Amino acid sequence: MRLGEKLRTTDVDRSNQTRAAESDLASVHLAKRGTVSESASASKVTTDPLVELKLRAQEALFGRLGARLYDSSLSDEQLRDTVLEELAAIVRQEPTPLTSVERAQVVTDLADDVLGYGPMQRFLADHDVTEIMVNGCEDIYVERRGRLHRTTARFVSEAHLRRVIDRIVSQVGRRVDESSPMVDARLPDGSRVNAIIPPLSVDGPVLTVRKFAHDPYHADDLIGMGTFTHETVELLRACVRGRLNALVTGGTGTGKTTLLNVLSAFIPDDERIVTIEDSVELQMNQHHVVRLESRPANVEGRGAVAIRDLVRNALRMRPDRIIVGEVRGGEALDMLQAMNTGHDGSLSTVHANTPRDAIARLETMVLMAGMDLPDRAVREQIASALDVIVHLSRFRDGSRRVTHVTEVVGMEGAVVTLQDVFAFDYTAGIGDDGRHRGSLGPTGIRPAFADRLADLGVTLAAGTFGTPDILTAGRRR
Ligand SMILES: Nc1ncnc2c1ncn2[C@@H]1O[C@H](COP(=O)(O)OP(=O)(O)O)[C@@H](O)[C@H]1O
Ligand SMILES: [Mg+2]
Repeated sequence: MRLGEKLRTTDVDRSNQTRAAESDLASVHLAKRGTVSESASASKVTTDPLVELKLRAQEALFGRLGARLYDSSLSDEQLRDTVLEELAAIVRQEPTPLTSVERAQVVTDLADDVLGYGPMQRFLADHDVTEIMVNGCEDIYVERRGRLHRTTARFVSEAHLRRVIDRIVSQVGRRVDESSPMVDARLPDGSRVNAIIPPLSVDGPVLTVRKFAHDPYHADDLIGMGTFTHETVELLRACVRGRLNALVTGGTGTGKTTLLNVLSAFIPDDERIVTIEDSVELQMNQHHVVRLESRPANVEGRGAVAIRDLVRNALRMRPDRIIVGEVRGGEALDMLQAMNTGHDGSLSTVHANTPRDAIARLETMVLMAGMDLPDRAVREQIASALDVIVHLSRFRDGSRRVTHVTEVVGMEGAVVTLQDVFAFDYTAGIGDDGRHRGSLGPTGIRPAFADRLADLGVTLAAGTFGTPDILTAGRRR
């Protein structure tokens, strides 16, 4: 059995054997270099009998391979194979008796440090972890199930962390240094990475990884987590099938992209879909999908391709639907124009605090296109382009929920009129378990788009919109 295979077969053991080994290895380095107090690291050193061995093996590896470790003519696989073979040979010569599991563990830990993302590697492999936050070399936090945890993992030194950052950003042809101290990149698996280094980050390099969801949430998962109800899903499915132009709104991390992905799944399989994103997050199940991704400028500051350019290009690609991951700037104008000129059923997200706020932000973003349109014309564009806004909020109990399904009705005077079709009931209060007991329900208002859906043969269950109620019926804003 080749080493690589062997390592894979021991993956399970690895994850069970957990944190201790890697962080201990790091603390020995730190102790050696005198960068942390001896007492703090000494207690950890004694917990892993393999630490000394790993250190010896690492030194031997650098001795044997030297500059070949940075040989760019070797492919990643060749390099990995070489490193694993050398490490296996080194570990075999060790006088310390080792079980085969221990031997594999030592080799993998060292290979992670030398070739991969060091102490982050195992969090990248752990599907429960959704985000990884590295605050300088000694502090690594992860998010699991929406909650932050501090880990005991750490980088050997600031230089070690910088090496990992360099490895990540150079893979996408970028670099991080004093002249460009902030950079966005992407790991080969699609995870998004942001790095910012001193002097901008005061206490050392900071790396933030939002992991690519290998198994994205489906509508049922979101129902299970209390994000919305079955009735809401049915309404939203009808909106998407009925080709309404929809906008998902909410703050950062409220689940906009996740919901956009869920909504996109409702698009029939026989339509041509063009998706446009800053970095690919959407995971479409349909066959006929063209994915476009914007590009930042290169190190010389050239070659940038903005979302806006891609939206314009997409219009020439005979799309049935255009999905823009997030509208942030001047592309808002192109997106609205597309929606107004027959590209119905387009979907996007906007960062906003309320549905009303989303309209205001869209107005500002349209102005960023630099066309100098009168306010009223901009609002008319917005009012006629958009049909429905789905707003998300993150609650104090950690849950993310849809709080509004709002119809964009039209204009009243100079104002875009909105009307909540579904709204969250905040009056239910907090339960004993700390979770909000409220839920999303119909306001009793039948939206104008219900007729359009009916015309298209998209049917909704009787009572979807509830019964008109004297209190809620007046909720026109
Ligand atoms: N409805 C939800 N319930 C719980 N967690 C969610 C939900 N939607 C998204 N998440 C998690 O929240 C994080 C941010 O989600 P994302 O969709 O990227 O947010 P946004 O696009 O608003 O910044 C992800 O880790 C995701 O797994
Ligand atoms: Mg997003």
